[in-house]
Amino acid sequence: MRDTEADRAARILREGGLVAFPTETVYGLGADAENTSAVERVFEVKGRPPGHPLIVHLPHAGALGAWASELPEAAGLLAERFWPGPLTLIVHRADRIPDAVTGDLDTVAIRVPDHPLALAMLEAFGGGVAAPSANRFGSVSPTTAEHVREDLSDEVDLILDGGPCRVGVESTIVDLTSADPQILRPGGVTPEELEQALERPIGISGEGGPPAPGRLPSHYAPSAAVAVVPRAEVARRASEEAAAGRRVGVLAVDPPPALPAGIAVLTLPPDAAASARELYATLRDADRRGLDLIVTSLPAETGLGYAVADRLRKAGAVREVR
Ligand code: TXA
Ligand code: MG
Repeated sequence: MRDTEADRAARILREGGLVAFPTETVYGLGADAENTSAVERVFEVKGRPPGHPLIVHLPHAGALGAWASELPEAAGLLAERFWPGPLTLIVHRADRIPDAVTGDLDTVAIRVPDHPLALAMLEAFGGGVAAPSANRFGSVSPTTAEHVREDLSDEVDLILDGGPCRVGVESTIVDLTSADPQILRPGGVTPEELEQALERPIGISGEGGPPAPGRLPSHYAPSAAVAVVPRAEVARRASEEAAAGRRVGVLAVDPPPALPAGIAVLTLPPDAAASARELYATLRDADRRGLDLIVTSLPAETGLGYAVADRLRKAGAVREVR
């Protein structure tokens, strides 16, 4: 019988290789989570500094118990409600997990992705797959197999093509290791959905905590600088920057009508979920056009708009003052 793509991927993982695979959020760069040298290769290929912990991907919620040393009630509740789906849970780790995966923390990040090809690969493999987003460190996450090829094609043993990602921004990370669940990174599951499931308000963690690339201000940034300004100032700022000789693009749901010639217009759809889906491809497009600066304003921070605003803010932080 002929191997399926998922079987091939599972075999490569068992042999210590790297497989890029689609999820509903972004493409991941996967390695056997229990193979330290394979996990170390993920860091090398991504150009990611060691010590940044990875998410372990599992085929179903039933596997969670084997990877955690204790499970708070909220873990079962959230897993039941949102898995497979764009939610990552931080729990106390089981001993079997190599330090390379957790960055020496006593906690681990776990999720069950909602993509048929990812789930088929995980089922065929049987273990946990440690995977960060399949981009080079510090660049925009890939939402198509083509994006992965652009960034990493030579160094990955297999790239599974599952089409464009349905959600388009990374999973929401929720820390369940203290009494009150906290959002560490906004993502595909909204704060409103989490509060509804938990039947109580959920906090958003500020500074402090473990090093997390998703929490570095300059993460998720395209090569172009990003200036986040109030909506009413987008046109003026873009015009000034263009007049100063910079290659400028305006990123907006409703770009101002009267922009000087030469300013690129990058339009996002009005629907927040559609905006999230297209955001990273649009930022990659800005780089392809060789823009120096993207001028944008933040969308309404409800639903998926919260994650979109978070990524734009992080893309704008640091680089704007450069
Ligand atoms: O949607 C996603 O989550 C994608 C797909 C591929 O699953 N993955 C992803 O991985 O975004 P990555 O490595 O780009 O981001 C993982 C985030 C980082 O911010 C990391 O610091 C955080 O998860 N993280 C991992 N383990 C952690 C832990 N034990 N405590 C706190 N944060 C942790
Ligand atoms: Mg990433």
